[in-house]
Amino acid sequence: VNAEAPLNLAEYEAAAAALVPKAAFDYVAGGAGDEVTLRENRAAFDRWRVLPRVLTGAGEPRLATSVLGTEASMPVLVAPSAFHKLVHPDGELASAGAARRAGIVYTMSTAASYPIEAVAPRAGAWWFQLYVYRDRAITRELVARAEAAGASALVVTVDTPIVGRREADERNRFSLPFGVTFANFDRPEQREMPANAEGSGLATYVQFESVLRWSDLDWLASITRLPVVPKGILAPDDARLALEHGARGIVVSNHGGRQLDSAVAALDALPAIAAAVDGRCELLLDGGVRRGVDVLKALALGARAVTIGRPIHWGLAVGGEDGLVRLLELLRAEIALALQLSGLDDVAQVTRSLVLPTGPLSA
Ligand code: GLV
Repeated sequence: VNAEAPLNLAEYEAAAAALVPKAAFDYVAGGAGDEVTLRENRAAFDRWRVLPRVLTGAGEPRLATSVLGTEASMPVLVAPSAFHKLVHPDGELASAGAARRAGIVYTMSTAASYPIEAVAPRAGAWWFQLYVYRDRAITRELVARAEAAGASALVVTVDTPIVGRREADERNRFSLPFGVTFANFDRPEQREMPANAEGSGLATYVQFESVLRWSDLDWLASITRLPVVPKGILAPDDARLALEHGARGIVVSNHGGRQLDSAVAALDALPAIAAAVDGRCELLLDGGVRRGVDVLKALALGARAVTIGRPIHWGLAVGGEDGLVRLLELLRAEIALALQLSGLDDVAQVTRSLVLPTGPLSA
């Protein structure tokens, strides 16, 4: 692989693997348990085929859209993910800058390795991902800081009552290298990941609330003027409940296969969730997107846009902010190509009829 010019997102990952320390690479790349869900997130895309139309008169592809009312140059967002400094010293400063330059929404993680106030000025439009801390005063303060710094939505992770068992992190006794912290916090209990001689340090960071209820979603909606967007929903009934409890958007996600192994693939959950929600809120598909045509499949099955997580780290690892801009532009070019070859010229034209399960067409 030519690290200077990877041709696709998979090549960025391969290039990053050669550049990033093993424990950090494994932390980002790995999943829980046997990594069944991690693999399924990708495999689910390969179970769908595209039915291109021809002679449609489609011209120059238009990718611009909006997510929760925010303009975006393409239907892709930066997913929240922890500790961008693990792969590049500029960390979230670089990832936020790349998202701004690419014209896409940036989601900042609670577990960022630069603080909200430092990252926000680098981003264009951005959302804040919230982990509800057991200490609700800490939670409130995070929300207030995100609002004050200009976040336009609050993405609440709901699939992490405890951290999934990622065996690579256990084996590596994963902990944060010197200089990498939960930078949003001052107190050592929240700022540091405890070293764990036995296994994963993250698994011993027991600050997140382990008992969350739907009433907590109502509570969050009551303490913020930002739209609340639960992340980590897979069951259609949970999507219905989310709407009843004030959700203004939903991220269909299994946390990149890092939580419950054998959880359903995100793309496999999407059509049923789209049916349950029936247009009442926008859906974001998170998990397994590595090609432009994957984005079209997700849109066809009901997503407004997709989010990408691990590839953000690979772009940063290869070339910092510029590297990530190149990766995002590669993905943009792939979406445009797939759209045009499908006989369409606007992402808004993608409908369910664009895709079908693999196998012969019915007459
Ligand atoms: C943190 O959210 C992780 O998935 O490691």
